[in-house]
Amino acid sequence: MTNVTLQLHDQRVNGELVIPGDKSISHRAIMLGALASGTTNVSNFLDGDDCLNTASIFRALGVTIDIDGTDVRIESEGQSAWQTPSGPLYAGNSGTTARLLLGLLAGSTVEATITGDRYLSKRPMDRIVEPLRDMGADITSEEEALVLPIHVKGGTLEPFEYAPPVASAQVKSAILFAGLGADGTTTVHEQSKTRDHTERMMEQFGVTLREEGLSVSIEGGQTLQATDVVVPGDISSAAFFLAAGAIKEGSDLLLKRVGLNETRTGMLDVMRDMGADVTIEREVREKGEPYGDLRIRYAPLCGVDISSEALMPRLIDELPIIALLATQADGVTTIRNAEELRVKETDRITAVVSQLNALGASIEELPDGMKITGPTPLRGGSIDSYGDHRLGMMGAIASLVAKEPVTVVDTDCITISYPEFFKHLEKVTATSVQ
Ligand code: S3P
Repeated sequence: MTNVTLQLHDQRVNGELVIPGDKSISHRAIMLGALASGTTNVSNFLDGDDCLNTASIFRALGVTIDIDGTDVRIESEGQSAWQTPSGPLYAGNSGTTARLLLGLLAGSTVEATITGDRYLSKRPMDRIVEPLRDMGADITSEEEALVLPIHVKGGTLEPFEYAPPVASAQVKSAILFAGLGADGTTTVHEQSKTRDHTERMMEQFGVTLREEGLSVSIEGGQTLQATDVVVPGDISSAAFFLAAGAIKEGSDLLLKRVGLNETRTGMLDVMRDMGADVTIEREVREKGEPYGDLRIRYAPLCGVDISSEALMPRLIDELPIIALLATQADGVTTIRNAEELRVKETDRITAVVSQLNALGASIEELPDGMKITGPTPLRGGSIDSYGDHRLGMMGAIASLVAKEPVTVVDTDCITISYPEFFKHLEKVTATSVQ
């Protein structure tokens, strides 16, 4: 287990970074490349542990996948050519891998068991398994609580109309993947719009979808044509450096090629509400995913209300780092309607409250969020990542405003989504991280 001690209080954050590829989009590039017939080339793929686990799984299903740094070449003869793997399919820490895979395998000709690490094995899978069973899927778990390991025996599925009780792109995507194999129209009615990377990428691969308000429908039986995919930088990774620039006086940082899909940019809206000086310098909107360069300069922040249900899916992964921002903002920041945080890689409400309060912040835990009173100077100390990549990175950024050194315990998990994180932190603070 690696622990990292940082003393960054005297540093400001300057220069520029090219943000690594988006995790959600990288997973989907492998999955859709494996569904399509032909050769799919992916550039700027995120070579983090989660996406590498997705690639290994599809190799085990018989798809040829060559990874050369951030360039990936996928050769497939389509879903009908997938083979039953010789052992379990290991999703590691990745909820997206396990949940989307359930939707993909349910209507295939393959039989497989999906496993995960000790964190993923506690996360709820009923949100996916129950609607898939309603479509006729043969899915079983030895655990009563419907958690991994889960066994799927692919077969014929019925089309389905579903309104998920939680706003989740993973649920929506799994049902749409299953719908591809069902004979008829499958529709998902969302309560709040969630990230739409699956829909956008399916269209790039030649699939027709029908979108009406918060509903999206897919006609079964469509085949995918291989195509090339360019993955934009991950705004959820950029978030840590946006926060760094926003809380550290004298900072001016440019983050390049960051994905700017509207379903992911809630943090930018919240930062502007807080008074942050964040601007989009160059925006490219072509087919697929929009992206651009983000500039962040230090400006004083104020507390805000973050509770709109429609906003939650647009910033759910950024709430831990937003909590750190709020500790440096003048006034009260209230985060509500964020109970989903409790079933992420760890319970991110309890964990963030305990991490930041240990450094001297003033945060009250709420059942569905937190109430943060700022500004509070932070002190040094030791904080656990709880094996959660986003909490590890949040702890490291907190050291910029902590007077004494901060030790982040168990930083290995950061390679899940941002293998170059410490290298980038060294670059923009001109320090050497021990
Ligand atoms: C993801 C969707 C979100 C997000 C997760 C990635 C995806 O989860 O929190 O990190 O790639 O579809 P939910 O679908 O559970 O909201």
